[in-house]
Amino acid sequence: MAHRDELTKPILPGRGATDYERYLRTDELLALQKPPEELLHKDEMTFLVVHQSSELLLKGAAFELGRAVEAIEHADYGNATRLIRRAMQLLDPPIGLLHILETITPCDYHVIRAGLGHGSGLDSPGFLSLLHIGPRLGHVFHEQLGRAGLTVGDLYRRHQEFFGLHDVAECLLDFDERMQLFRFHHLKLAERIIGGRVVGTMGTPVEVLQQRMESWLYKDLWDVRNQITSAANQTQAGRQ
Ligand code: HEM
Repeated sequence: MAHRDELTKPILPGRGATDYERYLRTDELLALQKPPEELLHKDEMTFLVVHQSSELLLKGAAFELGRAVEAIEHADYGNATRLIRRAMQLLDPPIGLLHILETITPCDYHVIRAGLGHGSGLDSPGFLSLLHIGPRLGHVFHEQLGRAGLTVGDLYRRHQEFFGLHDVAECLLDFDERMQLFRFHHLKLAERIIGGRVVGTMGTPVEVLQQRMESWLYKDLWDVRNQITSAANQTQAGRQ
């Protein structure tokens, strides 16, 4: 049996006293926040940690959605939905993390904001990568729909026959809904902290955040519900 000292000795290359620290590169990761003496306000640590954690989680979500694009291309719908569901689990925490920032008071936030320069969430690499992957997912889904000779309406009417592709459609809807939820909670956060009738750090009015809530990734997947309901209403009316 190996001696305990030998098992705890790091064997991976890199900095850090243990393999845990080396593998996760915790030295670098934990040096990415301002040291306490440089913080403009003590609440800035929370502001930094929430933003950096969100970027990591959004990166993870976009990575899994990229894998889902490939899976849909190969008609591997089981794997695609597994990966999209995982991506949604990665997306939920950044939505929750937004609420932590509601604990920063509007006055204290302005002390932190003074150090942001022109920094704006509009340049969030994580969110931008989701905005990039969204249409690609929609594109490969529609390609498969076309190959099967189906419209979105057909897919929803014949969902039992095309279970895999229908499940993909529902997962896309989950993704679209998460994007809306992020935007909604973020809008409320911005309204709470800086107000709803001001401009952001890049000169963008906060009202723009409201307008962005109206942009859907997969409008046809939302619309199909209206079609199904009006068809059902007509059938019902015909019976009366
Ligand atoms: C005190 C907290 C926050 C405030 C007051 C705030 C405020 C704002 C404002 C005013 C905008 C509009 C653009 C501009 O900057 O001028 C914006 C955009 C944005 N922010 Fe924040 N934000 C906060 C926290 C966060 C966090 C934690 C994230 C997570 C990554 C985030 C992500 C974004 C994104 C993705 C956009 C673009 C939104 C879109 O495309 O719909 N923000 N934010």
